[in-house]
Amino acid sequence: MNLPVKYRPKTFDDVVGQEHVVKTLKNALKHKKISNAYLFTGQRGVGKTTVARILAKGLNCEKGPTPFPCGRCEMCKEIETGNSLDVIEIDGASNRGIDQIRELRENVRFMPVKARYKVIIIDEVHMLTNEAFNALLKTLEEPPENVVFIFATTEPRKIPETVLSRVQRFDFRPLSEKAVVERLKHICQNEHIKCEEEALSLIYEASEGSMRDAISLLEQAYIYGEGEIKAKTLREVLGILEEEIFLNLFKYIQEENSKSVIELLRNVLNKGYSLYDFHKGLIKATYKLMEASLFGYSNDYTDLVKYFSEQDILYIFAILKEMEQVLRLSNYPRALFEYELLKLANLKKIVPLKAAQIISNYAQQNDREKEDTGFSIQKNTSSSSKTELFEELIEKLKLKEVSNNGSVQINE
Ligand SMILES: Nc1ncnc2c1ncn2[C@@H]1O[C@H](COP(=O)(O)OP(=O)(O)O)[C@@H](O)[C@H]1O
Ligand SMILES: [Mg+2]
Ligand SMILES: [Zn+2]
Repeated sequence: MNLPVKYRPKTFDDVVGQEHVVKTLKNALKHKKISNAYLFTGQRGVGKTTVARILAKGLNCEKGPTPFPCGRCEMCKEIETGNSLDVIEIDGASNRGIDQIRELRENVRFMPVKARYKVIIIDEVHMLTNEAFNALLKTLEEPPENVVFIFATTEPRKIPETVLSRVQRFDFRPLSEKAVVERLKHICQNEHIKCEEEALSLIYEASEGSMRDAISLLEQAYIYGEGEIKAKTLREVLGILEEEIFLNLFKYIQEENSKSVIELLRNVLNKGYSLYDFHKGLIKATYKLMEASLFGYSNDYTDLVKYFSEQDILYIFAILKEMEQVLRLSNYPRALFEYELLKLANLKKIVPLKAAQIISNYAQQNDREKEDTGFSIQKNTSSSSKTELFEELIEKLKLKEVSNNGSVQINE
């Protein structure tokens, strides 16, 4: 099938999103204000190569230069099928040396064979060696007539300043959920694919704004689901855990039910999901909890907000970071992952304790006053009675004399 190829836009108006790019390039073609070199930046699968080819057609269409290449003339067809001798696509990753660029410089000195413009598309241009960039720069400084360079890259930071200053740059953006979902729906309709609405959202989330990834996933899920795409099968393909699992997890954490917390993880693993899947899901869930808590967003986590203070959420994120380390570095990821989860189950004890320790350390080191520590100590308090005071403070905190929102409050 290869849906991403089948659904590669053939005209500017077919391109989804990237309005700023499309508009400027169409205007350039309309007014025949063509640059010698363009740079297209952006993550993979957002339309860089697609737009480069459409631009090549717009420049060379028999009716052109035109913002509306016909798609039917010989030039348009040759470019579409990749058979034009004048539109050359080079992969910068495998042609990164000086020799390849020298060859290219030779080539561009000759007039186009048939077309109006020779178009050189260099993909992943950031991979070129320094020498190669320098050679390229010479051509950009004295560009031959009728040659248009289009550079594409996912990592513009790696391109030398000297080159950047000689190109017209366009930043391609990740595609929005709406844009991706609409495109997928269009494809489903055309291909007579049955697909649940929820599945489309899941695909979008997994694609992280890449249209290519989204369309590939759609195809994968279609094959896996034997013609029908359901949220359930998609979760299996993608290792996405149900929201309900994390809602339960937070419930157990709030109840300080360590046993259930660990059992919940083990059940998930028994179903064939990985620690990595679990971690990924928990990050998303915590993120949503934070949004519900800080911004009052109404989502599945809204009801949990009252149980988790900002400090709690901070601490959960800190643990998520530690889990990531465990997954990446540890020889015993399973056990240490469970250890981190246990910490979460003891969140309500650990957070105030930590807070108390910090205050205590801090105040013992410094004779600070009220505004710093949130409570005051007489300047002339003897150091032993200070220590007593802090011990008492820690004791109180252990007994959970902490206000509901988690802030530490001490009555003098
Ligand atoms: N903006 C877009 N609008 C519509 N389809 C897109 C878009 N970007 C990518 N695609 C889809 O993804 C495929 C790969 O896109 P491509 O232009 O090669 O991405 P890039 O060069 O940015 O990695 C295309 O064939 C097309 O199916
Ligand atoms: Mg590309
Ligand atoms: Zn044409």
